Amino acid sequence: MKSRWYKDAVFYQIYPRSFCDSNGDGIGDIRGIISKLDYLKDLGINAVWLSPVYASPNDDNGYDISDYRNIMPEFGTMEDWKEMIDEMHKRGIRLVMDLVVNHTSDEHAWFQESRKSKDNPYRDYYIWRKGRGKDGKKPPNNWTSRFQGSAWEYDEATGEWYLHLFSKKQPDLNWDNPKVRQEVIDICNFWFELGVDGFRCDVITYISKAEGLPNGKFNPFLCGDEHFILGPHIHEYLNQVNRESWSKYDTMIVGEAIGCTVDNAESLVSEDRNELDSAITFELMQVDFKWDFWPVKFNLKKFKAVQSAFQSLPDTCWNTLYYENHDQPRSVSRYGNGNGYHRKELAKMLAVSLHMLKGTPYVYQGQEIGMTNIALEEKEYVDIMATRVFEMVRKIFPPLMPIARWAMAKRARDHARTPMQWNGKQGAGFTTGKPWMKINPNHSDVNVESDLKNPNSVLNFYKQLIAFRLHNDVIIHGTYKEYFHNNKNVYCYERAYRGKRYIVICNFKEKNVPLNVDTIGAKGAKLVLANYPKAAETMGDAVFLRPYEAVVYEIGGQTEA
Ligand code: NOJ
Repeated sequence: MKSRWYKDAVFYQIYPRSFCDSNGDGIGDIRGIISKLDYLKDLGINAVWLSPVYASPNDDNGYDISDYRNIMPEFGTMEDWKEMIDEMHKRGIRLVMDLVVNHTSDEHAWFQESRKSKDNPYRDYYIWRKGRGKDGKKPPNNWTSRFQGSAWEYDEATGEWYLHLFSKKQPDLNWDNPKVRQEVIDICNFWFELGVDGFRCDVITYISKAEGLPNGKFNPFLCGDEHFILGPHIHEYLNQVNRESWSKYDTMIVGEAIGCTVDNAESLVSEDRNELDSAITFELMQVDFKWDFWPVKFNLKKFKAVQSAFQSLPDTCWNTLYYENHDQPRSVSRYGNGNGYHRKELAKMLAVSLHMLKGTPYVYQGQEIGMTNIALEEKEYVDIMATRVFEMVRKIFPPLMPIARWAMAKRARDHARTPMQWNGKQGAGFTTGKPWMKINPNHSDVNVESDLKNPNSVLNFYKQLIAFRLHNDVIIHGTYKEYFHNNKNVYCYERAYRGKRYIVICNFKEKNVPLNVDTIGAKGAKLVLANYPKAAETMGDAVFLRPYEAVVYEIGGQTEA
């Protein structure tokens, strides 16, 4: 059944709340997405990952679902959604929806029932336990929520606690209950019947919790991980959903896979495992954020080591390539001087460094114009991650507030969620109303309208790069080899297939960098991609890279086997 179409796909991720508002309420919506499908087609992408559009009270912007078979009214109706998928398919764009089934919203009918009584038929859809201590008023174990504080909430109605690894409005489902697994299978099949091409499975590596829910090793921020990340039944559960749903359609299943490393990736994504097709992994994201949130200095060597390790996975595994999504800061601000003179070269260089790799690349909305992080006052942050950090630090130790502000200025998810910058006017072409969150003031300079007009823009470079990549056998199937690993400035690698070689050279520094390339054995290779208007047409013994310069040279391939 599976054509594995995703191996020749370039994805575009839409975070619907911030993409395009069609009705002036300040919130992006489905009709807004429909209005931009020609733009996406023109960009050249052929698949979309759409962050959740299901009914939700929005405690975590749609990642808390109250009805899996309905659309959030703020985003539109089921009719709008059907029109959207039709219009995507007409343009050759596949649609991958978000599947958030580690937890539901506490406003989901299952949870409403579950909390009513201990013998309610839905009680075991969630994870309820008695508290510790004489009066049971202490949480059942020491696990922490990913949004800070205990992962347990006490519920008066039955005098027990329920587990929530995210906010208290996101109770964890009990996957050990076969009925829950059947519900998930039914939900997937419901959407497949409506034409969806796949799912991005939210925190899917959290679904199986260790028996007895034992205490975790002490850690004030992330406690309990070892008891629920890749837990005891993860493979069995993924395999079941794959067998009873995902494998029955020509799908792409990509799992958000915290804990998936080079060492265990095969067990999750190798084709013969029948679990996930690919994994969104986090080791690259942790190079400059310890524990996923604490900023540490960017180290290019570590970064290259992670990329090279994943590139070297066996051919039965398939990589997900990304720098940005709705949970990560903007890559131009993260890996370089995003507000500097060379922002455009930087954005293009990063694109080259990622899109020439083996795997499926994802462009996150706004990345294709080089959108940057935003400077926010504490009160302007709206996302639950930052607001919870501020709340907790203020409560526990207020003198640390400046550090919390410093960390969030680099790490908050808000940076990715500022409205899409379509033009330089008020509302950025995103809305005619009051935007749900602050628009980056730099939209006067950084926007789609001006990029469309400028042949040297980041946007036009993305179009060129995507067109170069699609259907390109060397990029899809080629081998990978890294050069000059110890170089602290440059990321250089080769992709090769049937005698044709691409040499990819990316300067990650905002300074001139010379590089001897005489050891690569590609003298005379021809320039095929460059992020500066003029670069040496032929590769010699050395290349002289300007700030954030990226070049790709091609050699061989005329004499096919
Ligand atoms: C991962 C999602 O990407 C993130 O936005 C969300 O907060 C958590 N999972 C919880 O669903």
